[in-house]
Amino acid sequence: MSNYHIKHLEEYFQVYRKSVNNPEAFWEEIAEEHFLWRKKWDTVLSWDFRKPEVKWFEGAKLNITENCLDRHLLTRGNKTAILFEPNDPKEAAEHITYKVLHERVCKMANVLKAKGVKRGDRVCIYLPMIPELVYSVLACARIGAVHSVVFAGFSSTALATRINDCDCKMVITSDGSFRGTKTIDLKGIVDEALKDCPGIENVLVAKRINSEITMTTERDFWLQPLLDAASIDCEPEIMDAEDPLFILYTSGSTGQPKGMLHTTAGYMVYSSYTFKNVFNYTENDVYWCSADVGWITGHSYIIYGPLANGATSVLFEGVPSHPDYSRFWQIVEKHKVNQFYTAPTAIRALAKEGLEYTQKHDLSSLKVLGTVGEPINEEAWHWYDDNIGKNKAPIVDTYFQTENGGIMLTPIPYVTPTKPTYATLPFIGIQPCLMDEEGKEIEGNQVSGRLCIKFPWPSIARSIYGNHKRYKETYFTAFENNYFTGDGALRDEVGYYRITGRVDDVIIVSGHNLGTAPIEDAINEHPAVAESAIVGFPHDVKGNALYGYVILKDIGEGRNHDNLRKEINQIITEQIGPIAKLDKIQFTDGLPKTRSGKIMRRILRKIAHKDSGNLGDISTLLNPEVVQSIIDNALV
Ligand code: WT7
Repeated sequence: MSNYHIKHLEEYFQVYRKSVNNPEAFWEEIAEEHFLWRKKWDTVLSWDFRKPEVKWFEGAKLNITENCLDRHLLTRGNKTAILFEPNDPKEAAEHITYKVLHERVCKMANVLKAKGVKRGDRVCIYLPMIPELVYSVLACARIGAVHSVVFAGFSSTALATRINDCDCKMVITSDGSFRGTKTIDLKGIVDEALKDCPGIENVLVAKRINSEITMTTERDFWLQPLLDAASIDCEPEIMDAEDPLFILYTSGSTGQPKGMLHTTAGYMVYSSYTFKNVFNYTENDVYWCSADVGWITGHSYIIYGPLANGATSVLFEGVPSHPDYSRFWQIVEKHKVNQFYTAPTAIRALAKEGLEYTQKHDLSSLKVLGTVGEPINEEAWHWYDDNIGKNKAPIVDTYFQTENGGIMLTPIPYVTPTKPTYATLPFIGIQPCLMDEEGKEIEGNQVSGRLCIKFPWPSIARSIYGNHKRYKETYFTAFENNYFTGDGALRDEVGYYRITGRVDDVIIVSGHNLGTAPIEDAINEHPAVAESAIVGFPHDVKGNALYGYVILKDIGEGRNHDNLRKEINQIITEQIGPIAKLDKIQFTDGLPKTRSGKIMRRILRKIAHKDSGNLGDISTLLNPEVVQSIIDNALV
């Protein structure tokens, strides 16, 4: 028997050693014993980080939805697969069994086929957290189409960029979405985006909010009538192990978002194996990840990982503050949630509201608590541990990235002793290392450096869609023959890892990964703006908030600094989305630059961090004189 479910620390070390001493044999055993293959692989792994190229289970044939759905039908057909909890607590929750989910995915797959979607085609999914989102994702996988889910909080411009970048031929959306007391006109956003997307042939529209929307004849179709007419039989398309499964965009340090390309077999094996162990999932548990499916956490740990394990996965449409700040805890009590997985920013926001909201609910079902997306601070960690887990449910601080596909560093609950703010140890098969700035590995404990991974794991992204060169430059160039995460980390005296934060131009705001460049590009489009630079600064709920330094060319008639600030945030909202709005905007006459003309963000970061007493040597700057005036006018 392979070690699919790790139960104690000795076993973790033993399995970990096996997984790094002979990765091929280890993963072959896991793959062989826990998944359904139409044909087994010829080669477990071939790889070369210098190219870079990674292939897992080459030669194997499978369909991931057979693993997530069909194979459970006999034993778990009437078990709830997706437990849908609507935005409005008065609306009934829906228990979608494996049998029903299978039927609906097949129907949806037949609808896609009837609309001309074929194996290899890209389909953009722009939906709220409703069951149709899950049907759409799995229907694509059923027929071998590549899904590209775009978070439904992104603006029309951001949506259009993502549709065009990977050349989608269809968009699946809804008339609108509910978010707390608000509704959002998703179809209107899609219509706006599609003015710039000539490749889109059809739009399928789920009805959710019953709003008046415009349907474009021959392009747009209501989804439900098509589903009603579709057959519940749809043979899965038999895919190759390395066929693309999905594209998911993440921010980069230049303007264009990066379409991370994930493939089929390795992703399935790794998302499934991590899910089982990181959440210690056992058969009758109810598991809930509050992330949005628009992020990698939702792909791997709401849909694929849980369903591959035959789990019950909660899909929550709403927000933690509606109808009040007890909503999360009310849901935990109502569905007797056993594993709860959320982001530090949500924990901090809820902690601020006081204990009256947590105390009125029975949280005794909770066995494991998870966090993901950004470093969790000590205070939030303890609040979560004391008030939600009651010091009985271990906290798994899980570290990973869109590029990774699955969790990389994490405690295993009831196995790894936890330590506040530490993601602790590498998951099975993961070989992390710390590098110094010269590219040399830092050995030993009690050290810090740049976090790299030495060896491929099954769910590593294989490329950036349409731009393999950028993939190589971003992840495989800074440290030869290593994958570079872009994060800094320290390793303590026992070898536990703690992520210290990004070392590049990416800022994590409320768990959202934002590149500075696209925000600066958006601001610079304002007619009054000459140049801008964005840095992060610490924020007690969001983790980081954004601070913008803006040089104006001509303020323009009738404008003052206050309405300019509003207009700048308006542009950002239109081009990227409200998550990228700036908390502080300082107007300045100049930005500190190196002699080669690069903005010295390090200095701007220190000023925004109220740390301007400690700027180091600025004499090599092109324009050292601007620094003092920036300090004098800083909004800190
Ligand atoms: C970046 C990746 C994968 C989940 C959603 C984010 C930061 C993620 C942790 C953690 C400290 C974390 C890193 C990483 N991050 N998890 N547990 N502790 N930092 O995915 O949008 O691709 O962002 O999120 O900085 O590089 P993403």
